[in-house]
Amino acid sequence: MHGVERVGVIGSGQMGGGIAQVAAQSGFETVVYDLDAAALGKCKSLHEKLFARAVEKGRMTEDQVKETKARLTYSDQLTDVHPADIVIEAVVEKAEVKKEIFKGLAGSVSDRAILASNTSSISITDLATSVGDKADRFIGMHFFNPVPVMKLVEVINGLATSKETTERVLALAEAMGKTAVPANDRAGFVSNRILMPMINEAFYTWMEGVAEPEHIDEIMKLGMAHPMGPLRLADFIGLDTCAHIMEVMADGLSDPRYLPCPLLKQLVTAGRLGDKTKHGVFRYE
Ligand code: CAA
Ligand code: NAD
Repeated sequence: MHGVERVGVIGSGQMGGGIAQVAAQSGFETVVYDLDAAALGKCKSLHEKLFARAVEKGRMTEDQVKETKARLTYSDQLTDVHPADIVIEAVVEKAEVKKEIFKGLAGSVSDRAILASNTSSISITDLATSVGDKADRFIGMHFFNPVPVMKLVEVINGLATSKETTERVLALAEAMGKTAVPANDRAGFVSNRILMPMINEAFYTWMEGVAEPEHIDEIMKLGMAHPMGPLRLADFIGLDTCAHIMEVMADGLSDPRYLPCPLLKQLVTAGRLGDKTKHGVFRYE
């Protein structure tokens, strides 16, 4: 149904790494590409750690780990993703960077290949303008962090996305052990339209001195049964990503109420991006 044997992933950060891991574990020949060799190395060592943990917990056998690893290639050559039946892009949340990548891919992948973006918020219709007459095969395939744990894939059709592409991606998400739920192409889709203003409001609450960050998080965890408080979650997602998502929504929904809180922007300017720099709202070992 999905017609996918080979998966190409662009970007080996927290999302690309997770998508590649789940694809390989689900039986797909997988190539994960990043232009940063250090990022690829970090991705590979996280996979090693998670595979070892899966064996320890009895979720995978040693043989399954061996087979999964044999299906997974780490590459710093973009041409290695060209034979893929679907390419899932997971680089920085900036439209111009993503479009540049897709423009290059459009002329290099096969005619049946699907081009998918894991964007958190950017219009799929807009991104699809970079692939010319392949816009019918362009789609949003939005995974959640951490990918191996979170069950959802939000599937977003652009204006030109064909029914066949949507059906193939819904089937592929299911084959990767996920539950696929459709959403329409508006900035932030459903998930981040609702989640990000809450996170942004937590920064305002902190900035205005209503409570200390740990107390804001404790109130939301204990009072609303959230697994992480909003400020811890912002660090976990990446403060740069949160700020970019707010900017995309302010622009795409033409409403300044979605602009990122000045304190969130200030932390990003200072290079405090959250878990990935070991310092965001909170410090990490
Ligand atoms: N990769 C793979 N597995 C991971 C992981 C990671 N990065 N982080 C945690 N896990 C696994 C752990 O291995 C553990 O499983 P085992 O113990 O069986 O090995 C399991 O998840 C639970 O982890 P922990 O016991 O360490 O911690 P926890 O119980 O606090 O759970 C959590 C961690 C799953 C991340 C949980 O805190 C949680 O659900 N947090 C909320 C996450 C969330 O909201 N994600 C969505 C973010 S928004 C988004 O993704 C969209 C966007 O566009 C920004
Ligand atoms: P990240 O910063 O962890 O990783 C991005 C990776 O992309 C880096 O390794 C970087 O080297 C690589 N990269 C940058 N430009 C590249 C290029 N031109 N070619 C190849 N690789 C390149 O970011 P992330 O958190 O994994 O987010 C990636 C995407 O996924 C963003 O669009 C983000 O909005 C989306 N997303 C993030 C989350 C989250 O919780 N972090 C959840 C869902 C979706």
